[in-house]
This record gives sequence, structure tokens and C-alpha cells, in this order.
Amino acid sequence: MVEIKTAREIDAIGAAGRVVADILAAARAAAAPGVTLKELDGVARDVLARAGATSPFLNYHPAFAPVPYPAVICTSVNDAALHGIPGDYRLRDGDLLSVDAGATLDGWVGDAAVSFSVGTPADGDPELISATEAALAAGIAAARPGGRLGDISAAIGQVGRSAGYGISTDLGGHGVGRTMHEDPHIPNRGKAGRGLRLVPGLVLAIEPWFIAGGRDGIYLDEDGWTIRTADASRAAHAEHTIAVTGDGPVILTAPRQR
Ligand code: MF3
Ligand code: CO
Repeated sequence: MVEIKTAREIDAIGAAGRVVADILAAARAAAAPGVTLKELDGVARDVLARAGATSPFLNYHPAFAPVPYPAVICTSVNDAALHGIPGDYRLRDGDLLSVDAGATLDGWVGDAAVSFSVGTPADGDPELISATEAALAAGIAAARPGGRLGDISAAIGQVGRSAGYGISTDLGGHGVGRTMHEDPHIPNRGKAGRGLRLVPGLVLAIEPWFIAGGRDGIYLDEDGWTIRTADASRAAHAEHTIAVTGDGPVILTAPRQR
């Protein structure tokens, strides 16, 4: 069921979203060659604790996963596209890292992700990251009242395909509210003019992720969580939680102005 949020509820999701933005900023600032992914998870835990927020990721146990999720962020390096579990891996110069974070504050959830190079970017990574960010911006721009869900999917897919990247439809965007994953599912490619009509009060996590090698295949790592590219090429991911309002889309996980 797709839920419509009131203006006050959207404000509450925005408060959670600001915590998510702070986590992503802190993790990005801490990410450097030699730093472990677990250390980044620790940085995220500190931000949550200081904000009086909890993590919707920690102990999350959907039907597709064999074990509950053991951390507060996902850290996906290189051929890991999504849901990488922060472990003892030490970041290296040139790694492409995606950090995905959530926060629950006063019962409302925010969800966002960012991808960046650690140290000196490897060949092709800046273009892959920029395309993912451009697709996120295009998807958000399409989240207007009167449009359709397929407009968001089509806008994302067009950016990825025209750059020659692979796009899996297995995991995509989703509704957000009191829980992290609500209806509707938002595939990262599709047909404009189709699907759910977009109305004010929809709160959506839009999350394009593209595969550099150009093929769409993925597989689940033995850890039961990490989604990897089938061709072992790199993937990048970008995500914001947004609200559809009468004035157009509003980003609820935007970095704080400073
Ligand atoms: N943004 C990710 C998603 O919607 C967050 C996953 S959290 C995890 O899939 F706990 F499932 F890892
Ligand atoms: Co999400």
C-alpha cells in the first residue's frame, strides 16, 4: 500500500534525513587509504548516537537475506554494488566506495547513499559516479505531481543507458516512512507515462546504481548481503529520500549548508 504523508510527517522525515546526510558527510571525510570499513561504521554509529537516532539497517532482516544486517551503513567497494557489509577490509587508493546510510528519528526514517573515489580516482570512475548522480537528479526532477512512477524510472534509465552502463532492475528505489522499505518499488529503468500517479505526500527513496561494464547481471555474495556485478566491473550508487509536494520534489537528505 502506498502511503501519503502530511506536511508535518514530511518535516519529521526531513529531520531523520538530516542525520543521514551527516552520516554520509562524516563517513566520506573519514574514508582514506588504510581506513577499514568497520571504522567507517563506527563513525556512523557515533553520528547516530549524538543525534539520538537509531539505524533502520541494523538487524534488518528481509525475506531475501539469510541473516540480519549487522551494521548501520552499507559500504560497497568496486565490484560490490550494494549492501556491502563493513568488515576488516582496508580501503586502498583508487577504490570506488559507495556508502549507504539510514536513520530513524522519532519513528521516521531517512535513507540516502553516495559514491566517491578513495584517494586518486581510477580510470572511468569519475564518469561512472557523475552519471549516477546525474541519473539521481533526473529521477528527482521527474518526481512531480501529475507525473507517473514510470517517469522516474525512465529518466534514470535513459541517463545510464546513454552512457553505456548496465542497469539491474532487481533492486531500486522505494517508498520511505515509518519503515525503510515501503511501496512503491521504483525500478531504475522503465517506461514514462506508466504506473502509479505521483501526488503530493509521496515520500520516495530514489536510488540509481549503474554497472560500468555495460551488462546488467549481478550476483549475491556468499555473505548473503553483498550484491556484486556479474562481470566484476565497478558499480556506483547514489540515493536521496525525497518528497513529492505541490511545489515539486523536495530533497529530505540534502547535505547541510555550511
Ligand atoms: N538504500 C538501501 C536499500 O534501500 C538500504 C539497504 S539497508 C540494508 O536497499 F540494511 F538492507 F542493508
Ligand atoms: Co534505499
